[in-house]
Amino acid sequence: MKMTVIGCGYLGATHAAGMAELGHEVLGMDSDIDKVHTLNSGKAPFFERDLDGLLTKHTSSGRLRFTASYGEAADFADLHFIGVGTPNQPGSDAYDLSHLFDAVRRLAPGLKTPAVVAVKSTVPVGTAPRVAEILRAYAPAGDLIEVAWNPEFLRESFAVDDTLRPDRLVLGFSTAHSWAEALLRQAFEKIIEAGTPTIVTDWATAELAKGAANSFLGTKISFINAMAEVCEASGADVAELADILGHDHRIGRHGMRPGLGFGGGCLPKDLAGFINRADELDAGEAAGMLREANAVNARRRRRVIDLACEELGPDLRGKRITVWGAAFKPETDDVRDSPALAVAQALHDLGATVTVTDPKALDNARKLHPGLDYVEDPIAAVDDADLLLHLTEWHHFTTIDPRCLATRTTSPKVIDARGTLSTAHWRDAGWSTRTLGRR
Ligand code: UGA
Repeated sequence: MKMTVIGCGYLGATHAAGMAELGHEVLGMDSDIDKVHTLNSGKAPFFERDLDGLLTKHTSSGRLRFTASYGEAADFADLHFIGVGTPNQPGSDAYDLSHLFDAVRRLAPGLKTPAVVAVKSTVPVGTAPRVAEILRAYAPAGDLIEVAWNPEFLRESFAVDDTLRPDRLVLGFSTAHSWAEALLRQAFEKIIEAGTPTIVTDWATAELAKGAANSFLGTKISFINAMAEVCEASGADVAELADILGHDHRIGRHGMRPGLGFGGGCLPKDLAGFINRADELDAGEAAGMLREANAVNARRRRRVIDLACEELGPDLRGKRITVWGAAFKPETDDVRDSPALAVAQALHDLGATVTVTDPKALDNARKLHPGLDYVEDPIAAVDDADLLLHLTEWHHFTTIDPRCLATRTTSPKVIDARGTLSTAHWRDAGWSTRTLGRR
C-alpha cells in the first residue's frame, strides 16, 4: 500500500519507518527541510535505538522517502497518517492543537479524491469532529474524506519495537464498518495477523484511550513514589515493597519503578491536558487522583533538592554538585521536562556550581539550560565534587567503579535518586550513600 505520514518527529519518523518495514511504500512529510534532508540520508534527527537501521534500510530500498511538500503528500496516497506534536499551550495545561489543525488545513486542498486521514497525535477528547470539519471545508473531495483515530502508544527508546509489535491497536471511526476501517485493517494487516488485540471503536473512545493510558502510567509511578515517601518516614524499603506488590498479577511490577518520578514530552503533558479537558467537560472531580499524581511527582524532585541541602548545608553557594544524567530517561537524548535537569537547574539557582554529564543528551541539555556546566566523561565530571547525584539511570553509570571515583571528589557522597547503584559496592568503596525510598 501507499501511505504518507505527516509530521516526522519521534512518533512520525518511527511510524513511517515502521510502515515501510511492514512492506508499504511510505512518504514522510515534515515542514522542517533540515529534518527532511537528514531523514532522506537514512538518519534520525534524534537518538532512538534501531531507528537509524530501519531508515537506512528503507531509504535505500526505495520504500521510504521524505518531503517538505504538502501537495506531494496529498497526491501520493489515499491514506494519510498525522503524527504532528501537540504540546501544552504556553502558560496553560490545555493542548496546543495549532500544529494539528494547520497540518490538516494544508493537506486538505490536495485531497481531490476519497481519502482517509488517520490521526495518531495525542489530543483532548472531542478533537476528531473539528478535524473532520476542516476537511469538509478545505478538501475538494469534501465529505468523501474520512477521519480515523489511531492513537500511538510507543515509548521512546523502545519506539521501533512498540511500532512493529504493539500491545494493542486502536482504531476509531465515526461510523461502523466504514471504508476507512477496511483501509486501516489492510495497512496494519501484518500486525493484526500476528494476533495483536485490535479494538475498533468510536472517535471519542479512541481519543480518550491515549490520555487515559498515560494518566494511568503516571498514576502508577506516583503511587509507588508516594509509598517511597511513607517508606522514608517509617524506615521501610520501597524497592522491596514494589517487588512484593508486583508479584500480585493484578498490580504487576512493570511501570512501577520508584525514583525521581516521571518526565518527558508525554506523561507530564498528557496528565495536565487530561485534567484540563476533564475540567472543561465538568468532569473535573474524576481527575482528582491525577492532580495528586502530579503533586507526588513534583515532591520527588523537591525531595532530592532537600536532601542535597541536608548533605551540603542550606547555603549552596560555592558548592560543587555533579549530576549523572540529563535525559528524561535512559536510552534517549530527549530532555523535555527532564526530572534530572529540573533538579540540576534548581540547585544551580540556589547557588551551586552544577556539572552535568549524560551519554547522549548533552547537546539538547545545553540548549535548554545554558547556565549549567557540561562534561562528557562521567568520571572526570566528579572531579572536586562535593556531592554526586544519580538522576537518570543509564546502565553505563552502574558499570563505573566507585573506587576510582572516591578520591576525585572533595568528599565521596552520592544521592541515588533512581535506586540502580549498588549501595553495598559504593559503601565498600568509601562513599556515603542515600537512595530515595530505601532504608
Ligand atoms: C510514554 C508512554 O509510556 C507511552 O506508552 C506513550 O506512547 C508515550 O508516553 C507517548 O505519549 O508518546 P515515554 O514518555 O517514552 O512513553 O516514557 P516512559 O517509558 O513511559 O517513561 C516516562 C517517565 O516515567 C520517564 O521519566 C521515566 O523515567 C519515568 N518512569 C517510568 C518511572 O519513574 N518509573 C517507571 O516505572 C517507569
